[in-house]
This record gives sequence, C-alpha cells and structure tokens, in this order.
Amino acid sequence: MLSGKRILLIITGGIACYKSLDLVRRLQERGASVRAVMTEGAQKFITPLAVGALTGGKVFTDLFDREAEHDVGHIRLSREADLIVVAPATANMMAKMAGGHADDLASCVLLATDKPVLIAPAMNSRMWAHVATQRNLKTLQGDGILTVGPNAGEMAEKGEAGYGRMAEPMEILEAVEAFFNATIKPLAGKKVVITSGPTHEPIDPVRYIANRSSGRQGHAIAEAVAQAGADVTLVSGPVTLKDPKGVNVVHVETAREMLAAVQSALPADIAIMAAAVADWRVASDAHQKIKKDGSGKVPALDFVENPDILATIGNSKVLRPGLVVGFAAETNDLIENARGKLQRKGADLIVANDVSPENNVMGGSENTVRIVSEDGVEDWPKMGKEEVAAKLIAKIAEKLGS
Ligand code: C5P
Repeated sequence: MLSGKRILLIITGGIACYKSLDLVRRLQERGASVRAVMTEGAQKFITPLAVGALTGGKVFTDLFDREAEHDVGHIRLSREADLIVVAPATANMMAKMAGGHADDLASCVLLATDKPVLIAPAMNSRMWAHVATQRNLKTLQGDGILTVGPNAGEMAEKGEAGYGRMAEPMEILEAVEAFFNATIKPLAGKKVVITSGPTHEPIDPVRYIANRSSGRQGHAIAEAVAQAGADVTLVSGPVTLKDPKGVNVVHVETAREMLAAVQSALPADIAIMAAAVADWRVASDAHQKIKKDGSGKVPALDFVENPDILATIGNSKVLRPGLVVGFAAETNDLIENARGKLQRKGADLIVANDVSPENNVMGGSENTVRIVSEDGVEDWPKMGKEEVAAKLIAKIAEKLGS
C-alpha cells in the first residue's frame, strides 16, 4: 500500500505517455497522491487537461510560469515528494539528467531534488542500444537513480522490435512499492550475525571436504537484513557469490574459523545461522600433500567432530543473542528433526527445508521452507530465496515486536 505517499510524476515526450495516465490511476488506487509535471514533448502526445483530470490538481509544465513559480515553484515541487517517477523517460531526458542539464521545468526539478528518483525508460530500440544511452544509464545508476524496464517487444515504428518499450504501469507500480517497502527499516539499530555457505575442511594442503551449499540463501538473508536497517556481520564460508551490499563480510574456510569469527562478532541482538557447517573434520590434516606411493594402498581418514556453532551460541549463558535462528536441511523426517534442533541447539526459530535432490534447493534459486518454533509449524509456499529472506525478516520483526 502507498497510503500517504507523495509521488511526483514527470512525464516526458514519447508514445508511451498514454500509459502514464493508467499509472496515475494505479498509484492512486494504492493510496498515493500524485502531482504531475509534463515536458513540452509530452504535451504533444497527451494533454495536461487529461493528466490534471486524473491527478485532480494543477499539472506543471512551464519553468517560467510566474503563477506556478509563485505558488509552488520547482524547488518545492522537488521537495514535496517522497519519490519522483519519470515515466516515460526519453533518451533525451536521460541524457539531460546524466549531464545535469536544467533547461525546462522537468530537468530543473530533477536537478534540484534530494529525493529518490525512479525512471521508466522508453524509446526506439536503437536509441536504447546506442552507446551514449547506455553510458548515460550507467551514470544514472551510479548516481543512485532507480530504473524499471524497458521491456523487449514491438516498437511503435512498424516492423521494429527490441528493448525500448516502457515497462507496463503495473510493473512500474511494483517498482514503486518495492522502493517503499525497502525504506521500511524494521531492524534499524539491531546488530545481526549471519553465517552462510559451506565450510571446507582440509585433508592436506590441496584437498578438502566440502558440501553442496552455495550460500545463496544465507547471502540473500544478509542483504535483506542489512536493507532492513541492521548492522550485519556475515561470516561466509567459501562461495562464488559477490559480497552482499551494505554488509561486513568475514571470509572463512573451516568450521573452527567460522566459530571464532561468529564469537568475535558478538554480542549481537540476532544470530541467523544459515551455513552448512561440516559436522566433522579430518583428525590430523597433513601438512604436505598425501602422495600415491604406487603400492595400491589408500590412505585412511579419521574424523573428529567440529564445534556446533549454532548450539554453542544458542546455549551460551553469557553471549546468547536475544533471537537465535537456525536452519535444518533434511532429506527425511523434516519437522521431527527440526524440533529436535530447536531444543538441542537453543534456537528460537528453525527454518526447515527438504533438500532431497529432486527439490533442487542446494544451489538453486528457490526454496520451500517450514518455520518451526515453540508456537508450532508454519508452511511457506515455494518462493525465491530473496522472498524467503524478506518473509523471514518480517517474522523476526514480529518476534521482536518491532
Ligand atoms: O545439525 P545440523 O547441521 O543439521 O544443524 C543445522 C543448523 O545448525 C544450521 O543452522 C547450521 O548453520 C547450524 N550448524 C552449526 N555448526 C555446526 C553444524 C550446524 O552452526 N557444526
């Protein structure tokens, strides 16, 4: 819902303008109030009268309109908004924004604003693909401008197709909603330690024992928790993923290193232990590469148990975080095993998932989880790992009452 949110919609000149009328409606349906600015180009496609009839207010078109400048003015227009949406955003407007030009009301507003800006580019596919437009896009993204689309499809010009169609009003609406959801910070001020990925347990200097964890779920959680306003330390085993944005990442290899890194990140308000930590390590890893000696004899590996990081901090009398979340990846008796872990490891929540190979969870982009706690079991439908992360944050915030 966008109730109470103020959107300044800047409409620039392209055939996609007509879709902006629908966008106004969709934004209003969700409770947003919409003010509109139109460029001269936009007015060649749709009239300020039509836009004003929908927004229910004056449509701003002229930088030198004495009445409007006196009344609202481009500075106030740019300030009195929670989000500025440029839809459609022409190649020309993108170029002007990237270069910091201010030769009409729309570009003045965009230069004067300190508010977030979302653009929905729309243009001929060749204009979109042009190096200049792509360079401008990079500049704008580097400046923190958000983008939605463009989509691929037929162009207004007969027989032309490719990337350049403006995103549909519903997609723009979703991007607007996603922006506002991301600005809600339910975990502001919280310190959170998260583990992710596998551990590697050395056999000798070149060989190790590992597992199939990709770290995608744990990393998605770390990024989402940071976006929710928390101060996040992510202790990551060896993964091929990029470090998530806005997170302090400590890279480790073994379970023992992971435990040490988690302990030095304490005290924390919340611990989320999503790593697939190796249960055992090789008792005495050789300091030199183990060699075949030609006799056909194979080396025997002895194992010792690794420390259980979740159990260590979940059962700690002194440094236990207020909320401890564990994972249970099982191939059988999921709930029973998860309940056992809740007790044994001193966790408040266990995110249980069935990692039977047919579910393609390990390394895959989706997850079907069940949330096990003292209150019972919640089944979540199959969803992307990012969505699991977002729902988990809502659950944690609910548990903390924040
Ligand atoms: O016992 P199991 O490995 O199935 O438990 C899974 C949960 O315990 C996960 O949250 C995992 O991160 C955590 N764990 C741990 N240290 C271990 C083994 C598991 O933190 N040595």
